[in-house]
Parts: sequence; structure tokens; C-alpha cells
Amino acid sequence: MTLFQLVKVALDALYEEASHKYGKGVDNEIVSRFSYLTTSYKDLSNNGRNPLNYKDPATRFAYVYKYVASHGDYIVQLLRIVREELGAVFKDKTARVTCIGGGPGSDILAVLKYLSDYSSEEPVAKVVCYLLDKEQAWADTWTELDDKLDLSRINLNVNFQPLDVTEPDSWASQRKFLEADLFTLSYFVSEVYALDEGVVGKFWATLFEEAKPGALFLYDDNGTEVFNNYFDQHWNAAGLELLKGSTNTQLTPSSSEQASELAMYKDKFGENPKLKSLLSYRILRKET
Ligand SMILES: C[S@@+](CC[C@H](N)C(=O)[O-])C[C@H]1O[C@@H](n2cnc3c(N)ncnc32)[C@H](O)[C@@H]1O
Repeated sequence: MTLFQLVKVALDALYEEASHKYGKGVDNEIVSRFSYLTTSYKDLSNNGRNPLNYKDPATRFAYVYKYVASHGDYIVQLLRIVREELGAVFKDKTARVTCIGGGPGSDILAVLKYLSDYSSEEPVAKVVCYLLDKEQAWADTWTELDDKLDLSRINLNVNFQPLDVTEPDSWASQRKFLEADLFTLSYFVSEVYALDEGVVGKFWATLFEEAKPGALFLYDDNGTEVFNNYFDQHWNAAGLELLKGSTNTQLTPSSSEQASELAMYKDKFGENPKLKSLLSYRILRKET
């Protein structure tokens, strides 16, 4: 299955949820949420801004439609780079993955897509995934993923955990997520940068200090220097090793990814899923 095909399954469920809430007005609500997201993302570096709110099903529909497949595809491309650098990304039968700000599903879909593309070259038989996100409403979208995917070879265990990086009480007592082999931070740093009054910095320090030796971190974000510089400062202070990085690279989804899978919704809303993007990434490793 392509990422767009998987996204279509999630969108159908979200459209139903939004229709239940808004009845005949659902399409207008969704159209207004596309604008809400676009406008809010232009303002991410503004320290006075309000946090984005993804609770409403119309907003979650708009996010998944517009961003999940392309963000997932970028992560697949980063995993391929890891493979070129290190060989197999996962060294054991059980792969532990933690997706920070992973509620919308892009990150876990990417890991599963990568594992299905390289099924004979990665030793993984089981994936244990922690989706950490402050928005509980995302939980329903992806926790029954294994029913929706044809995962003949892989046993999948997805755990959604509410966690707000600006609230230390929400992460101080959670430990399991720190045991991951791979951490993903996809379009997450930009979302919390302006909310960091020191506490988010403590989250990064805890994360990098308590992750296990050899753990990999994938950061990718919208290219803006202010977010890259902020994140570079934090991983540098923790002494992580940069395996590969790039700033403002133009990325396009892989040729197998066809946005036409979502044609029905494109006709309805006149909105295209995001495809090309300027992206910055860092592939990092904690010393063994
Ligand atoms: C732009 S989305 C990125 C989602 C996904 N990783 C991707 O690449 O498509 C940012 C995510 O971070 C979550 N988020 C925002 N602020 C957060 C916080 N303070 N703590 C934890 N999650 C947060 C949002 O709920 C949202 O799911």
C-alpha cells in the first residue's frame, strides 16, 4: 500500500466523525480548517502565539489530508539515508520507535512503509511504537492500525500516550518511550519552539540524556533557520553525533506516491495535498 492509500482509510473515518459533528456544514468547516492550519503555520516562530489546536475532527481531517502522506514520505527518505550510512536501520527482531508529536500518524506510517519496502533486509518481526502527543483526540486515528494494514510479517503494537512537552508533569513519570531504537521529530520542533520558556529545553535534555546508547533521532522540519538553530543548539549540548544533515533541501515524494488516491476529496475541497517542500533534516545518533 502507498502512504496515500493508508491516508485515505484514515480520512474516511475522520470525515465521518466530522460529519457527525457538523452535519451538512461539514465541508465548509473543513475548508475553513485548511486556512486555519496554513495561517497558523506561517506564525510558528511568533512567541506570543497560541498553541495550535487539533482537537476538532474537521481540523484533524484537514491536517491528515494535507500533510500526512508527504511528511511520511520524507521520513521514509530519511530512513533510506540511514540505511545508506549504517546498513539496516533496526538491528533486532523487535524495533522500538517513539514518535514525538506523532499523533497524526505520518511517522509510524513511514516506519511501516520503510519496513515493508525493505522486508527482506531488516530483521524486524515486531514493532513497538509510542505515539506521544498532547492532543488525545489523535489516539483513535491510528491505534487500530494493524487492522487497517496488511502486516503479514510484522506484529504491531501501537501505544498512544498523551504527553505535553511544555508540562513536565506529563513526561516526568513516563519512561518506556525512552527505550526506543529510533525517535522521530517530524515537524514537531517548529510547533513547540515559540512555546519554550525553558521547560521544552529540559525535555530535550532529558530525552537525549536518557535515551539508550546508539539510539537514532530523525529531525525534519520546514527549513526555517530559527528552528534548525534552536534544535542544533540542544542536540549539540547533549553531545549527539550528526550522521547526516541538510538545510533547505527540496524534497518531492517518491514516484510511487500518487496523490490521486485522494481525488474524491480534492474534487470536494479544491485543495491539493502538500507534495514538494523545502526541508531541513538532521540524522543523529547517541554514542554507543
Ligand atoms: C505539525 S504536527 C506534526 C505531526 C507529524 N509528526 C507529522 O510530521 O505530520 C505537530 C504535532 O505536535 C503535537 N503537539 C503540539 N504541541 C505539543 C506539545 N506541547 N507536546 C506534545 N505534542 C504537541 C500536535 O498535536 C501535532 O500532532
